[in-house]
Amino acid sequence: MNIQLINKKVFDTKNNLTLKLITAERLEKAKFKKTLKKAGFQAEQDSLCAMHGKSLLFCGLENYDAENLRTAAATTVKAIKSYDYKSISVNVDKNSIQAIIEGFVLGGYEFNNYKSKAKKIKIKNLYLTCENVEELSALFEEALIVAEATCFTRDLVNTAPDDMYPEVMAKVAKKLARENGLSCDVLGKRELKKEKCNAMLAVGRASRHDSKLIHLAYKPKNAKKTISLVGKGLTYDSGGLSLKPATSMVTMKMDKAGACAVLGIIKAVSELKLDIEVHAFVGAVENMIGGDAYKPDDVLVSRKGDTIEVRNTDAEGRLVLADVLDYAQDRTKPDYLFDFATLTGACMVALGQYTTGVMGHSNRLRHDLSKAATKAGELTASLPFNKHLKKQLKSEIADICNISNKPYGGAITAGLFLDNFIKEENKNKWLHFDIAGSAYTETPWDVNVHGATGAGVRFMTQFLKSIK
Ligand code: BES
Ligand code: ZN
Ligand code: ZN
Repeated sequence: MNIQLINKKVFDTKNNLTLKLITAERLEKAKFKKTLKKAGFQAEQDSLCAMHGKSLLFCGLENYDAENLRTAAATTVKAIKSYDYKSISVNVDKNSIQAIIEGFVLGGYEFNNYKSKAKKIKIKNLYLTCENVEELSALFEEALIVAEATCFTRDLVNTAPDDMYPEVMAKVAKKLARENGLSCDVLGKRELKKEKCNAMLAVGRASRHDSKLIHLAYKPKNAKKTISLVGKGLTYDSGGLSLKPATSMVTMKMDKAGACAVLGIIKAVSELKLDIEVHAFVGAVENMIGGDAYKPDDVLVSRKGDTIEVRNTDAEGRLVLADVLDYAQDRTKPDYLFDFATLTGACMVALGQYTTGVMGHSNRLRHDLSKAATKAGELTASLPFNKHLKKQLKSEIADICNISNKPYGGAITAGLFLDNFIKEENKNKWLHFDIAGSAYTETPWDVNVHGATGAGVRFMTQFLKSIK
C-alpha cells in the first residue's frame, strides 16, 4: 500500500473509504450514532463497523493513546484487505500520525515470498489527511522509515533457512551498504581463524555453509557518539549434537532475528540521517550436526583467550556472541554497546512471549531504554544480574561453562555468560536484549502478524533518536 500525507481539501474522494477512529464518548455526538448503535457498534477498542453506502468505516478506540491508535489501525488494515475501494483515508495530527502509520504498515504486513498465488489487495493507497502537511511531513517520513526498516527485518527473519544462510546474509548486508552508503566488511573462515574466533567457528563447523562475521558502519561527519550493535545470527539452530526435540526445532529459522534487527536498525539510522556513528556486527552461523560437529565436553578457546567448557551445543548463541562482542570491542570505542539475541527459552518462561528481556549493569541505561521502548510501543522488562547466579557458570576444567549448573534463572545466566566477555571500560555502556519471545509469533498480537515481529528495531531507533 502506497502511503501519502495529503491536505484534507485537495485529495480525490472518488471510490475512497473514509476511516473514522472514534471513542465511545465521541460516538454519543456522532452524526450516524443511531445507525451505528443499531448495528451494535459501541466504539469498543478495535471493533469495526462499515457503512458502505456512505463509504465510511468506523473503528472503536478506548482513548487516543498511541497504543490504542496503533492496534486500531492494525485491525482496520487487516479487515479492508478484501474491500473493493481504490483508497482509504484517515485524519491524522501530530500526536497520532506515527502510531497510525505503524499500525497500518506493521499490521498490514504479509510475507508472501513462498506463496504461488498471493491474494491481491484492491486498496492501493492510504491517504493520511491533515490541514498542515508541511508541519507533519518530517514526522511522516520518520515513521515510514522506522516501520519499513521493521518490515525489512521481518522479511529477513521469515526467509527459510535454506535461502538465508550466512553467505546470503553477508550479501544482504553488502547490498544494504551499497544502497545506504555504509561501509561493509565480511570475515570468512580464513579471516575468522586469523582473528582466533574459535568459539564462533566451532558452532558453525558441521554446517555446509561457512560462518561469516559481518561488520557494517554508518559514519556521518560530526557524529556526536559511537554506538556498537551486535546481533546473534544463527541462520538455523538445530541444537547441534545436543539436538532439539522435533517440535522445538520448528521456527528456529528465527534464531537470526538479533542479526536481522541490527541490520534493520542501521538501515533506519542511516535513512534518518542521525548524527551518530553506528556499527552493526553480525555473527552469521548455522548450528548443525555431523561428524565434524563440535561436542559437549569440548573446550573452546575464545577470541578473548578465555577457555569455555561446552556442556550443551544448543547454548551456541552465547559462544558466537562471545567472539563477536570481543571483536566489536576491539574494533570500536563505543559510547553504547548493545547486543540483540534470541538467546534463551528461559527468557520466555520468565517474561512471556511478548516482552524483550533487558540485562546489564547500568540502572540508568536500563531506565532510559525502558522509556524509549514504551514510547516506541515495544514491551521490555529488566532481568537483574547477581553474583550468586554468576557462580552457576563455574567450570571445573575450564574458565567458564557454556551452561549453568542449575535449571533456574537461565535468561540471566546466559546474560552473565556474555558479561564475561565485556571489557571493564564497557560494563556500564552495555545492554543485552534477549528477544527469544518477542522476535517471532505464531499467533497475531498487537501490530504483529504470524512470523517475525522485527522486535528491537522500533525501540532501539527511538533510543538512538533521543541520544544527546
Ligand atoms: N535459540 C535458542 C533459544 C530460543 C528458544 C529462542 C526458543 C527462541 C525460542 C538457544 O540457542 C537455545 O537453544 N538455548 C537453550 C539454552 C540451554 C541449552 C541452556 C534453551 O533455551 O533451551
Ligand atoms: Zn540453541
Ligand atoms: Zn540459538
